Parts: sequence; structure tokens; C-alpha cells
Amino acid sequence: MVAHSFALTEIATPFSSGDSAVFAQNHPGRGTPLSSAPPHLLFWKAKNESQPPVAATERHPKEDTHSVSQVTVSARAAKRVHNFNAGPGALPLPVLERIREELLDWRGSGMSVMEMSHRSPEFESINTAAEQKLRNLLGISDDYAVIFVQGGGSMQFTMAPMNLCLPGKPVDVLHTGAWTAKAIGELKKGFLHHIAASTESEKFARLPRRDEMKFSPDASYVHLCTNNTIEGTQWTALPEIGSQTGNIPFVADMSSDIASRPVDVKKYGLIFAGAQKNLGPSGVTVVIIRKDLAERADKNLPTLLQYRTHVKEKSLYHTPPTFAVYIVGLVLEWIEAEGGIPGMVKRNESKAGLLYDTIESSRGFYSCPVEKSSRSKMNVVFRVAGGVGRSAAAQNMEAIEKQFAAEAAATGLVGTPGHRSVGGMRVSLYNAVEPAAVEALTSFMREFQRTRG
Ligand SMILES: Cc1ncc(COP(=O)(O)O)c(C=O)c1O
Repeated sequence: MVAHSFALTEIATPFSSGDSAVFAQNHPGRGTPLSSAPPHLLFWKAKNESQPPVAATERHPKEDTHSVSQVTVSARAAKRVHNFNAGPGALPLPVLERIREELLDWRGSGMSVMEMSHRSPEFESINTAAEQKLRNLLGISDDYAVIFVQGGGSMQFTMAPMNLCLPGKPVDVLHTGAWTAKAIGELKKGFLHHIAASTESEKFARLPRRDEMKFSPDASYVHLCTNNTIEGTQWTALPEIGSQTGNIPFVADMSSDIASRPVDVKKYGLIFAGAQKNLGPSGVTVVIIRKDLAERADKNLPTLLQYRTHVKEKSLYHTPPTFAVYIVGLVLEWIEAEGGIPGMVKRNESKAGLLYDTIESSRGFYSCPVEKSSRSKMNVVFRVAGGVGRSAAAQNMEAIEKQFAAEAAATGLVGTPGHRSVGGMRVSLYNAVEPAAVEALTSFMREFQRTRG
């Protein structure tokens, strides 16, 4: 019992709902409570006290990390970088701090969320709260189900056609990049489909125009990816297809822009998003589905691959990724505390505006290959021309881009290289990326240009 009493007296930091005094004790000077926050809200509006990022070379070598078998935490204070990774990506610091606070004892339960039965009332409350928060934030009505499933965004490329394809009725696809290519790859395994528009011949540097789209009159659904994470394009409005197609549902891959801006859920039949960019860690995928569509599937499909199974069982048909769902709930709570979706829009527009302005005002040293009207506010792609213009030999460009990425990382600006399939640079500006991170990056960019331009 020695270890047990040690745990209770020395380690446990009970943090029950609404117990803001405990947070204040544990975080002297960290912030002031949100005055209008309802009692269940535990996030605090942090004062602007960002720490200088840490250079890649100063980070802990592997052998310096404590073994998880030891009852201890790292003696060093966390040194955090500015994280521009495309996913998994940055999580809000207050969320990470809350996870740490609650890791050993979730709100007086005496255990970590990781150790909880998914059938316990505690986990059920976590699950329900996460769903409810998403419903409130995105304005999801009762005729839609919200479920948490596994298998990532990629599983949805299979699950959507398995569940929603009607005999003889094709899936229309708006083909805009690597992630719609993956969806098409799955459709090719036996589902009737039709490419309604594609900008592949232009290397996906823009989204299709309305007059380029040709929809089937009887499609099962229309698939699109609202934000193309790799190519750096983002739809600003859904194409109007009503007159051509009647009541055909959209199926949207929102993996990389969900909860970054308002969405009119009613315009979609199905929305899916792997959580690891804007909503939480990897391991859980959010699916929002019109309830009647969840009933379309043949009941002989594998049980786990039917949406109706997860709808009926409220995401608890089998053991869900409990810890990931818990973190999604915390991230949604943080979004609420930051002003909800309008707060995210303001934050994301100002970050993207600053970065695109820096590229545009560089007199060609930096260049964004994406047509202006298609540019993403979540993933900004650009080339570093090294002062020699876009006609420079590709290997010169690549060499200076490697230098850019390495020097950026050395000053604590991590995750700037583009996707391995396209090269160049890519900076992801998901909700959790702080405006201060983009300020630090853009001043690095100006300095890099000054010394190389
Ligand atoms: C737009 C988009 N769709 C789908 C995926 C695939 O998600 P997962 O890796 O969770 O299968 C990604 C991953 O980056 C993505 O960006």
C-alpha cells in the first residue's frame, strides 16, 4: 500500500469538473479564468506568454528519455517547438496540460481515461460530451448521427461506397489531388464511378470551375475533398449541383479543415474527418451522417463496416479508441473557449493572410503555385526560388528548400517540408497553431530571403 498512498499524496492532482481553484494553484500566473465560462469549462484564456521555441539540435536525445517503467516525469521542463506538421499536427497547449493534469486520476475516478472501461458511466459521459460539443459547434441537427470510428480517413474511402452505393448508380468524384486519388483507387475495386471533374492535368494547382463539372443525373453520391492537404487547395463553396442532379448527397472528406470554419451540414449526406489535424490525435475518425443514409447499406456487409452499427450503438459497438475520443472532447472544449467556430475563422484567416502576404511580397523569392481563388487556409504550399526565379534548375530549388527546412527546424520551426510526393514547402496552419508561430515563421522567411535573395 506504500506505493498507493504515495500516489495519492504526492502525485495525484484531483481536478474535478469546475475546480478552477486547483488549476490556479497548479499553474500560478498561467492565466485568468474566462469570466463568462460556464462551470463545466475548464479552459483558461492563457495570457500571451509564448516561450521561445527550441532548436531541433537542443531536443532530448533518445537515450535521455525516461523509461515508462519509472514512476517519475521528466525532470526537464517541456521545450516546445512551433509545429507546422500536416498531421498528426499541433495540439493546443492547454489541452496537453489538461491531459497531464488528468492523466493519473480523471476527475476523481482514481484512474486514467486509458484505464477506464468503455462501458463505464465515466467513459459514456466523455463520449456523449464529445459528440454534444461537436453538434453544438457545427450546428448538427438531430437528423444526423455523429459517430467516432477507427480506420482513419482512409477507411472512409471504402466504407462510404460500401454503404452508400446504389445498384447501377455511379459515384461522381471531383478529383482534386492525392486524397481523392486514394478514394478513386478504392472505387476502382468494383464500384461504378465517374470523374465529374479533374484538375490533374494542371497538377491540381486549382479547383475545378463549375463549367468544367459534369455530374451524372443518377449518381449515388458526389465525393469531394474540401481541403487538399497535399496540394494546398480548399473549396470555399460547394458547387451548386441541384438543377443537374436533384437530391444527390455530397460525401465530403473534411479531414484537414473540419472545425476550422462554418459548415452547412445540411448540404452534405456524409462528412468524415480523421481527428489528427484539427480535432485531436490520430486513432479516431469523426463521421457525421444523415440518418436515412446510414440505413442504405446491405445488412450483409461486415457489421463493423456498416454505419448503422455505430449509429445504433452510439460509437460503442466495440471498444472505441477511448483516449483519442477523450482528447477530441478536450479540443472541442478549447475551441469553444476560444470563441467557437467564429473564433477559429478569425484566427485562421489572420495566420493564412500573414503567410500568403509574406510569400506575395517577396518579389518572387517565395512563390505559391496554387491559383489565388483556390488557396487553402489550412495548408500553405510554396516554393523557395533562391532569388533565381522559378525557371531555376529543379535541383537548385530543392537544395535551397532543404536548407530552408533545416535552418527553420534549427530555430524551432518544425514541419515545413512539403509532402514527399510533391516536394517544395508546406506549412500547416491548423486551429491549434498559434498566431505567434506564424509570426515567428514569417520573420524567419524574411531573414532567410535577406541572406539568400
Ligand atoms: C484530406 C485527407 N483525407 C484523408 C487522409 C487520410 O487519413 P488517414 O491517414 O487518417 O487514413 C488524409 C491524411 O492526411 C487527408 O489529409
